[in-house]
Amino acid sequence: MEKAIIYYSKTGNTESIVKRMRGFKALRVVPEDDNPNIQDPVIVDSPEVKVYQEIIFASPVHGFQLAIVMRKYLESLDDLNGKTIDIFVTHHFPFAWMGGNPTLKQMKKIIESKNGQVRQMTSINWTSKKREKSIIDMIAKYQE
Ligand SMILES: Cc1cc2nc3c(=O)[nH]c(=O)nc-3n(C[C@H](O)[C@H](O)[C@H](O)COP(=O)(O)O)c2cc1C
Repeated sequence: MEKAIIYYSKTGNTESIVKRMRGFKALRVVPEDDNPNIQDPVIVDSPEVKVYQEIIFASPVHGFQLAIVMRKYLESLDDLNGKTIDIFVTHHFPFAWMGGNPTLKQMKKIIESKNGQVRQMTSINWTSKKREKSIIDMIAKYQE
């Protein structure tokens, strides 16, 4: 079964987790310009989802929301019906309501609008003392 992690990472935190996961093809969403203030970013590398049955989408939180690059990428996708989809975000504010949870909900909503079903949702707080444990716990779920 083909599996992929499709992610956006501006400063490398999200990517550092992706690099630790085995058994998934890591595909990065690449904008022409990484400036987070660009409201309508041009995406120059937009990974194809068709061949993957299992996909993890991952992104940082920007301004209490999903990073615009990832939002634009997800909104551009066609049908996600029949795929197993998990999502995770990285963020730095201490409370989940300050970014992590609303962003997961936002991602879920876009994926559901493409007929995808979201299974697991994880929010990783980069400044938490429990960060490493939460990363290890999440990775463990994917390694047979
Ligand atoms: C422009 C910008 C906006 C951000 N806004 C938030 C935010 O609203 N809430 C939060 O918890 N973290 C916020 N962060 C922190 C990032 O979500 C966090 O550092 C994340 O792990 C970065 O992931 P990356 O290194 O993969 O880009 C922001 C970071 C940037 C650069």
